[in-house]
Amino acid sequence: MPTPLIAGNWKMNTTIQEAAQLAGHLRGSLGGVSGVEVVLCPPYVSLSEVAMALQGSAIKVGAQNMHYEDKGAFTGEVSPQMLLGLCQYVILGHSERRRDFAETDAIVNRKVRKALASGLHPILCVGELLADRQAGREEAVVSASLRASLEDVAVPRSLVVAYEPVWAIGTGLAATSAQAQAMCALIRRLLAQQFGAEEARATRVLYGGSVTPANIKEFASQPDIDGGLVGGASLNAQQFTEIVRTTASARPQGRPA
Ligand code: PGA
Repeated sequence: MPTPLIAGNWKMNTTIQEAAQLAGHLRGSLGGVSGVEVVLCPPYVSLSEVAMALQGSAIKVGAQNMHYEDKGAFTGEVSPQMLLGLCQYVILGHSERRRDFAETDAIVNRKVRKALASGLHPILCVGELLADRQAGREEAVVSASLRASLEDVAVPRSLVVAYEPVWAIGTGLAATSAQAQAMCALIRRLLAQQFGAEEARATRVLYGGSVTPANIKEFASQPDIDGGLVGGASLNAQQFTEIVRTTASARPQGRPA
């Protein structure tokens, strides 16, 4: 069973100074916690300061997006080459990027392949809209999105997949642990089809969408949920620390070690 992972997606929040402070605070409060990998994903402009604040600690750093080209005429974009050395992880295909910046599965696929080739660990986000779930289409939508996002990916080494139902993001209305477990199990079955059972077992599948200190235990103890992608609660040092600590003590039920 892989080490669980808790990633904090700070989105477009924190100034450089606030980001460094939050990272420094978390470094202190998470110092004694073991058995969980922690990744902080601040805005691009704070990556350097956050990486510095965390230097020598076990906490890793991630970006929230990247372009699929190494350089060129792409005004406002940031390339994998620029991220190397600053961070280890990169969130790709977040629903806010799909919704507000017209990112398609095809674009996300190029980014995932590029991240893997560059040595960055992608945190690939997939999830259905409320209308999809209401129509009973959630499995079909997530399956199609995952397959398209992973097209031509040969070895998923270092890939993380986050199941994030769009209706649960930032709404305070988290999925139930049964809903999340069912979808994460589906994702793992699809990973097994493409990469084999062993790779699928070793790949972290996270749940994201209104994760809080109160509900993380329920999620983290599901057999196919290997941690969480946390938005709002990751900006609060106390809440995020509690989420990590709870994950460290939650034992997944029914999953072979
Ligand atoms: P939330 O965001 O925890 O605020 O719902 C999760 C995410 O967008 O990754």
